[in-house]
Amino acid sequence: MKIRIEPAGFEFEAAPGRTLLQAAEDAGLEIPASCRNGTCRTCLCRASGGAAVRYRVEWPGVSLDEKDEGWILPCVAEPLGDMTLHIPYALSLFD
Ligand code: FES
Repeated sequence: MKIRIEPAGFEFEAAPGRTLLQAAEDAGLEIPASCRNGTCRTCLCRASGGAAVRYRVEWPGVSLDEKDEGWILPCVAEPLGDMTLHIPYALSLFD
């Protein structure tokens, strides 16, 4: 799956079975995260592009209303298709 991070415009491929956070780190990107288990909401961000995510945990810390608005938790979300994430504080470790 092709993942894009705005507003910086970073793009990377997410391998099957990797969370969005893991895939971003695989690509040398750093995005805000702390607990990495879907509870602290440090990584909460908005997604667009229409693709759904599959959560690794049964009760990720995001409400149904937030899900409907496109908010996701990348630390426990595996992408099911191409998508764009809006993460203003994303950094590339290679720049
Ligand atoms: S890092 Fe804590 S919810 Fe994602």
